[in-house]
Amino acid sequence: MFIGVVEVEKKLKKKLAAKPLNFESFFSEKALGMKASEIRELLKLVETSDVISLAGGLPAPETFPVEVIKKITEDVLTNHADKALQYGTTKGFTPLRLALARWMEKRYRIPMSKVEIMMVAGSQEALDLLGRVFINPGDVVIVEAPTYLAALQAFNYYGPEFVSIPMDHDGMRVDVLRERLEELKGKGKRVKLLYTVSTFQNPMGVTMSLERRKELVKLAGEYDFIIVEDNPYSELRYSGEPIPPIKHFDSEGRVIYLGTFSKILAPGLRLGWVSAHPHFIRKMEIAKQSIDLCTNTLGQAIAWKYVEEGYLDEHIPEIIEFYKPRRDAMLKALEDFMPDGVEWTKPDGGMFVWATLPEGINTKTLLEKAVSKGVAYVPGEAFFAHREVKNALRLNFTYVPEEKIREGVKRLAEVIGEELRKSSSQ
Ligand SMILES: Cc1ncc(COP(=O)(O)O)c(C=O)c1O
Repeated sequence: MFIGVVEVEKKLKKKLAAKPLNFESFFSEKALGMKASEIRELLKLVETSDVISLAGGLPAPETFPVEVIKKITEDVLTNHADKALQYGTTKGFTPLRLALARWMEKRYRIPMSKVEIMMVAGSQEALDLLGRVFINPGDVVIVEAPTYLAALQAFNYYGPEFVSIPMDHDGMRVDVLRERLEELKGKGKRVKLLYTVSTFQNPMGVTMSLERRKELVKLAGEYDFIIVEDNPYSELRYSGEPIPPIKHFDSEGRVIYLGTFSKILAPGLRLGWVSAHPHFIRKMEIAKQSIDLCTNTLGQAIAWKYVEEGYLDEHIPEIIEFYKPRRDAMLKALEDFMPDGVEWTKPDGGMFVWATLPEGINTKTLLEKAVSKGVAYVPGEAFFAHREVKNALRLNFTYVPEEKIREGVKRLAEVIGEELRKSSSQ
């Protein structure tokens, strides 16, 4: 018999009021080291109020191809239910891996076989698998400064020593990277792994130039390390010419490429893929076996039809058409409202703009004020492995409509303007 919600709540209250267990004593050392982000906690409040949130990293639900997904699901369940509802192999649904191999070749001119592809539950799972497979405590992992926050979290669990390389408008400063590699070599430290979000980076929105991509692959050969190229955004290009992924220049199998359906289909399907040398794939496959046995097979079967029957290629221009006005609205609003001294990136694609405020302004402490004035952003600090930059912030332009983007940026500009006036009068 069901006891009802009220009864359950009562029981929970009793449980919470009872003499507490020594909860912490049960956790592993690694679990004790895991920390919730304070910023996420603060941003949770935003979800329930009428604050304009430019903080999230969500695709717009209007871009989800609902009708296509319905049609494909019907087809999959009518004709392939035996496979689509069954456990699958850890590596993933073979027809989808084949379809992706062909798509990677057509789209990026990267010749690929299905044995070089493994499906994962979003590229976030791949980041954890990479940590498991490659990182010993103390291993040097090179990251961009700033970089994708949840990659830092995923790798951090395995205890690496992060070495941060600064970014500019052409992506990672590969010249600085060379210097760091020399220094590390001088100290007898081996670099195993370098992580980059090469195109329309999260959080900066910038793209690594062609020359730097080639130079990076050359450096990886010279200093014998692996490049992890995380590429969720390259299909979302609103202006400029496409640049081949770093993986395109990889002749030795040094580049581990992460792709995802999150921004080109729907993140709720939790589907991504790893393209890498079969030797690396094999180890990641073994690591994945104990995590989830296999990636969601129904989702994989849907994605197979989506790629194979050309829906993906049809849908990408529709997403671009939807997001481009939002990107333009954000850049125009920044231009119209931001006070002197504030700089920002002008991305050709992706989902984010990165703004840098004058030195001395702390965007983390400013967030509370911004939220009270009805706008939210993500403070930049959390995107740095060593939290060294305090005066930057990330803005998302894909989730809220143009008028709200404009109003949100206006509110933010007022908050920043006020802060600047206050600091100049002190
Ligand atoms: C750079 C980067 N990598 C990975 C992910 C995770 O994506 P997925 O939904 O495929 O797990 C994101 C999501 O925002 C991202 O920005």
